[in-house]
Amino acid sequence: MHATILSIAHRKGGVGKTCLTLHLATALATRQHKKVIILDTDSQQSATQYRAYEQQHLYPNQAPPYPIEAVRPEQLYEQIKQKRTEYDIIFIDVPRVTEANEDSQLTIALTYCDAVLIPVVAGELEGLSTLGFIKLIRGIQTYKAKKGYHFSYHGVLNKRNRRSENDQAIAFMKQQDVPMFETSLSDVKALSKPHSFESILNHKEGNQRFAPFYEEFLQKFQPENA
Ligand SMILES: Nc1ncnc2c1ncn2[C@@H]1O[C@H](COP(=O)(O)OP(=O)(O)OP(=O)(O)O)[C@@H](O)[C@H]1O
Ligand SMILES: [Mg+2]
Repeated sequence: MHATILSIAHRKGGVGKTCLTLHLATALATRQHKKVIILDTDSQQSATQYRAYEQQHLYPNQAPPYPIEAVRPEQLYEQIKQKRTEYDIIFIDVPRVTEANEDSQLTIALTYCDAVLIPVVAGELEGLSTLGFIKLIRGIQTYKAKKGYHFSYHGVLNKRNRRSENDQAIAFMKQQDVPMFETSLSDVKALSKPHSFESILNHKEGNQRFAPFYEEFLQKFQPENA
């Protein structure tokens, strides 16, 4: 086994990196029966803390469907090396870029990835941050291509709300030559609560809102072949 390494990533905070990572990991573990792990490199440890909360309050007697491990950025390489043969899919949850961690840690983490999914929130594109991130991702792609490694990235519209802003956001990303998902994720409560134990696909509204995106994710990221 040789794990596919993925990250739902952006420099910006609050775009849904952790939330989508949890939704996808849970669906892949419970629906696709993949061996999944989330490596939480965010010092805020939102994914790790969410799991701890669920385990304590919601599913006290249940074994989680996959592990979530907090990893310091400097331990990431060792962790990936160890886990690559054990898992089908490794998600790296990355922090937002603050002055304290800058782009270098993000660049290192994403260089380990086979593919990156960029959540885009309309009205929060803030040109420079997003443009800078696209440049960073392209740099990684060029670097990996030179070494003979494949690396792909896609954008997906998250928290879809008012129409004109959404179209502008998609047009902006396409202008930058970022391949965009045809499906998007709406701004709804059903998507805001990621369960790391139970797939959103088991719930009627969640399934309606998530399933089309999930299908496209399976096609584009091909974890089937992992
Ligand atoms: N499609 C959606 N609909 C409604 N709420 C959403 C959606 N996606 C994410 N959220 C909510 O938006 C908030 C931010 O999401 P999340 O914590 O995943 O962002 P993040 O990019 O990981 O942020 P950070 O940079 O702080 O780690 C959370 O409260 C989450 O539940
Ligand atoms: Mg996060």
